[in-house]
Amino acid sequence: MTLRFQPAQGLHCGSEAHVVLHCQRTYGRYATAFAQSRMDDSLPQLLGESFISWQNGFSCLHAVQFIAANLLSNRFAFAVYWPNAIGMPRSLLLEGNPMSPAIRYDFRSDTVTRPGPLMRAAMAAAEVGDDVLGDDPTVNRLEAIVCEILGKESALFVSSGTQSNLIALMSHCERGDEYIVGQNAHCYRWEAGGAAALGSIQPQPLTNQPDGTLSLADIELAVKPDDPHFARSRLLALENTIGGKALSLAYVDAATSLARRHGLSCHLDGARVFNAAAVLGVPAATLVAPFDSASVCLSKGLGAPIGSMLVGSFPFISRARRLRKMLGGGMRQAGIMAAAGLYALEHNVDRLEVDHTNARILAQGLSTFPGLTVSAPDTNIVFVNVAEEIAGVFSGHLAAHGIGVTSVYGTTQQRWVTHLDVSADAVEAALTIVRDFFVGR
Ligand SMILES: Cc1ncc(COP(=O)(O)O)c(C=O)c1O
Repeated sequence: MTLRFQPAQGLHCGSEAHVVLHCQRTYGRYATAFAQSRMDDSLPQLLGESFISWQNGFSCLHAVQFIAANLLSNRFAFAVYWPNAIGMPRSLLLEGNPMSPAIRYDFRSDTVTRPGPLMRAAMAAAEVGDDVLGDDPTVNRLEAIVCEILGKESALFVSSGTQSNLIALMSHCERGDEYIVGQNAHCYRWEAGGAAALGSIQPQPLTNQPDGTLSLADIELAVKPDDPHFARSRLLALENTIGGKALSLAYVDAATSLARRHGLSCHLDGARVFNAAAVLGVPAATLVAPFDSASVCLSKGLGAPIGSMLVGSFPFISRARRLRKMLGGGMRQAGIMAAAGLYALEHNVDRLEVDHTNARILAQGLSTFPGLTVSAPDTNIVFVNVAEEIAGVFSGHLAAHGIGVTSVYGTTQQRWVTHLDVSADAVEAALTIVRDFFVGR
């Protein structure tokens, strides 16, 4: 790995000076790490040889791997300080992204897709009006079509999957109510605690099983009796796909029936429900049917730049529409974005199979290398466990050759996602780059 910092102009970095390296991840999950070290203009040496201390729960080794991988993949802003004394930064030496190559093969997420010329043309041509007043014909058309596709009475166009889930949770639950949800569910773990912070809704998280399900016994035990000591159990929230795995119809049927026996409503985070439908060979409406509400993203595998759809009954969506306004999500001439959603639904649903095939080829290819343990993907998400001895250098190699992946914990677990903007050729190119890493090892 040859990453080099450019020392700031006019500042001499003597070998005895101490620096503080501060990295803050700016993409997705947040993490900080601090290192104090003797200064050197070579990051590997700086990180690898002369750590004094690390904070934030990382071991030194993890931190080295974590930073090496993530600096290179452009997900950190960083700053290096030259302190008077350890921990007391005096001079800012650097700020900005390191000299890393641009990402050429972007497997970080299916959210990275960019609208192509035809989608942009549809957006430019969209008829628009004031959607808060119900006047935008393109938004109205999108909402009507989504009702048809997903088999629900009513639909609402919202800005993001996070907003959609939050509105759904707040529509189902009152202050002090509780929703039962998986520890790994996006609407519990990755949405900044919005339901608790903004809706005063208490989560009851349960451990996800390896296949992404919540065990029925755990759900049953988690439902609280009607007793003034307890929060009122109000809702079961499931996610399909979850971690790229599709929940089976039989499981969803059993879990939602159980919830209903206890008087709970059911919400589906179906950000990637079309991926689940493709792999299960059923219409998306069949997967949404057991739920009172569902949130479906247009800006993941479907490739629209923005937007999610929340669906449910008329009264539910009318409550949701009020909450959307309250949360600042009422958009005016939103037809420009809705047009992208319409284009995505028309052109990009059937092709999700291609992403799934590419994910299988990628997983199969990666699994042939020693030190990589690959889970067979159901859909478009491939998880790769990387042996600790090679994790840092492997991540550095990928980043240095323009491959973007998401490191989940340190660098020993990676997530590779296939999508509209990574072709079969890109998968082949990525496998060649991986092969180059292992040659002669
Ligand atoms: C399962 C799931 N739900 C919801 C969201 C949130 O979507 P957004 O990024 O549009 O807020 C994501 C985002 O990746 C997701 O993966």
